[in-house]
Amino acid sequence: MQPLPPPPFFQPIRLDVGDAQALAALEARAFPDPWNEAAFVAAFSRPVFAAFGLRQDPGLAAYATLHFLSEEFEVLNVAVAPQLRGRGLASLLFGHVLQHTDKAGMNQGYLEVRAGNVPAKRLYLRHGFAVVGVRKRYYADTGEDALVMVRTAGQRQPARP
Ligand SMILES: CC(C)(COP(=O)(O)OP(=O)(O)OC[C@H]1O[C@@H](n2cnc3c(N)ncnc32)[C@H](O)[C@@H]1OP(=O)(O)O)[C@@H](O)C(=O)NCCC(=O)NCCS
Repeated sequence: MQPLPPPPFFQPIRLDVGDAQALAALEARAFPDPWNEAAFVAAFSRPVFAAFGLRQDPGLAAYATLHFLSEEFEVLNVAVAPQLRGRGLASLLFGHVLQHTDKAGMNQGYLEVRAGNVPAKRLYLRHGFAVVGVRKRYYADTGEDALVMVRTAGQRQPARP
């Protein structure tokens, strides 16, 4: 596997509506039912919506989208460009996002993840999320279960290998 280009090439940044096209392009490569550019433009008009990313000229190497509530946040999606997966980019970006939510006092984080999505589950476990529930056959396309995961800021996590 190729070594990662050195930072600050992959510097996490907050994204805005000007990134809607790049977000849609990467989303289309990562998810079976992607949001298009118009959906991202509409999302940015909502105060609760937030997006962070790693730029890679001319687009994005990775992004994370969230809802920010007063003391809580929900992770909507995290995606990395297919050719760059498995090199720690999602972990780099997600760590930055969680620094932001911790500093802002958003102490509870929530997300849903497909039960069979091993890289995503590992990412979330690594960053302090724990499985608290299962939604049976939640995903209509495959009938897969959703795991509900929660992270409480400042809560001591069990050691990971
Ligand atoms: C999930 C996703 C964002 C992970 O991105 P990534 O940059 O490859 O992840 P990282 O390299 O930071 O690795 C994160 C964790 O997953 C593990 N991982 C990465 N690729 C893996 C693979 N193919 N198989 C098993 N584990 C894997 C890593 O070892 C790491 O776990 P660790 O910290 O316990 O070692 C990426 O696979 C992706 O974009 N998938 C498609 C979209 C998606 O499913 N998003 C999540 C749903 S919201």
